[in-house]
Amino acid sequence: MTDSSEWTGPVGTAWAREWRRTDRSFGALTDRLLDPAAIGGFARALDIGCGAGELVERLAAAHPRARVTGLDISAELLAVARARCAHLPNARFAECDAAQWQAASGEALDLLVSRHGVMFFADPPGAFAHLRAQCAPGATLRFSCFRARADNAWAGALDAALALPPSAAAPDAPGPFAFAERDRVAGILGAAGWTEVAFEPLDYAMIAGEGEGAVEEALSYFQRIGPAARALREMPADGRPAALDRLRGMIAAHHRASQVTMPAAAWIVTARAP
Ligand SMILES: C[S@@+](CC[C@H](N)C(=O)[O-])C[C@H]1O[C@@H](n2cnc3c(N)ncnc32)[C@H](O)[C@@H]1O
Repeated sequence: MTDSSEWTGPVGTAWAREWRRTDRSFGALTDRLLDPAAIGGFARALDIGCGAGELVERLAAAHPRARVTGLDISAELLAVARARCAHLPNARFAECDAAQWQAASGEALDLLVSRHGVMFFADPPGAFAHLRAQCAPGATLRFSCFRARADNAWAGALDAALALPPSAAAPDAPGPFAFAERDRVAGILGAAGWTEVAFEPLDYAMIAGEGEGAVEEALSYFQRIGPAARALREMPADGRPAALDRLRGMIAAHHRASQVTMPAAAWIVTARAP
């Protein structure tokens, strides 16, 4: 489980240091998420859980007349995002929980996007109802989230390499796989008043390492980001060298043509404010 509070601590710190590699890991998903035909035109957009700000940068650059706000609870990630978007006068940022952020009067949103930033809410129906209340009628919501753990071979491979026991957390507890069940997500969005909820499955290759030192790069990436990082941190020190050897072996088995890639599976979810 990773709830919102962890993002203001070590998890957010690690993502703020590794943002180039986390962006790269999502690369194949990002274009599909920002498909112009799906998001349409807009005047005011919000990126929920914007992290290091890649979506804000891309939307603000492509739509110079629109205002794009990135929202996050991690000050460290927002510092990266602000620096990255400093050349874009139409990009804004706010350090705030998505369940509490308020659009200014007369500035209702017409687009909400999120790349894997909506699965950590303590009260998902409450958060999505609040976000809908910040929108103009007809606003578009489009976000990505992981599908089931079993469909995400990267997660199973890490668990196997590190001999991790099955997670004891409830399947719908806040965390990377909290939105894996399509019916649950449809129920949350419906309860929050969103309509026309649609799901597109997207299978993509998560890039963990690239170039000459791809295997070592992927090894260092997984030691900092995701479930392996936490498992290694919590492991007794004397077990770590053997665990790292097994991890390196698993990564080497996914090394092809100067890249380490692992299969990942996401939903792209679209909905509309009535
Ligand atoms: C998996 S990261 C994704 C970051 C970014 N969207 C990206 O694609 O690189 C999840 C993000 O959601 C943010 N987050 C988690 N809970 C949040 C909340 N309640 N309100 C706003 N942001 C939140 C985290 O701080 C983190 O930046």
